[in-house]
Amino acid sequence: MKIIKAESYQDLSRKAANILSAQIILKPDCVLGLATGSTPIGTYKQLIEWYEKGDIDFSHTSTINLDEYCGLSPDNTQSYRYFMNEHLFKHININIHNTHVPDGMAVDETKECQRYDNLVNLLGGIDLQLLGIGHNGHIGFNEPNPSFEKTTHIVMLDDTTIKANARFFPTLQEVPRKAITMGIKTIMQSKKILLIANGADKEEIVRKALTGPVTPKVPASILQFHPNVTVVYCFEGGIL
Ligand code: F6R
Repeated sequence: MKIIKAESYQDLSRKAANILSAQIILKPDCVLGLATGSTPIGTYKQLIEWYEKGDIDFSHTSTINLDEYCGLSPDNTQSYRYFMNEHLFKHININIHNTHVPDGMAVDETKECQRYDNLVNLLGGIDLQLLGIGHNGHIGFNEPNPSFEKTTHIVMLDDTTIKANARFFPTLQEVPRKAITMGIKTIMQSKKILLIANGADKEEIVRKALTGPVTPKVPASILQFHPNVTVVYCFEGGIL
């Protein structure tokens, strides 16, 4: 595991964007696994800037996102599809048909989960998966559990996750309780993983996940078993 300390959020964003753009330059038709949330916003902003300068070409690249809220349509401003369009896709030359987010409106949720797993396989797997981390150690929406959930599945969100995500909604009541997320096995099968964590409030959980016991109670701890993880973090202390 490579652990890189950033000086600031801007520095973290530039370092993460550098790793993603190197992937695209080395393999233009790569599959990027992407995340939403507040942490990657600066990374996406940096990628857009470099695209505008002519340094990155997304025309052959595919993306597949980790998760989506159930019950939110793509044009709902709180949906993760909307987030991705606004924060990245509409500013770059990616073919929108090559960008994938789970369908939160799927009537048959089980079928949607299977479709999403098949899609990852059809794309040939994920070359580089970008991850954030929740305060409870979740990755994607894989919440702390008695066991690791392997494949794409429906999840009831933890109270801590609902509260953390309430900052994006007008009221706590409007935060969806249910989501669809890629599973741990799918994430772990990515060839490379880039975990980004920003702020003092993430320090304890990042240390626990990366140096504590591997347990489904801290889902990100499974990353200790992945052969190619890079962590870029920005907070006061060290991790190891
Ligand atoms: C979002 C996702 C989540 C976030 C995590 C951290 O697609 O997969 O696991 O990465 O909740 O969110 P922020 O970055 O807002 O702290």
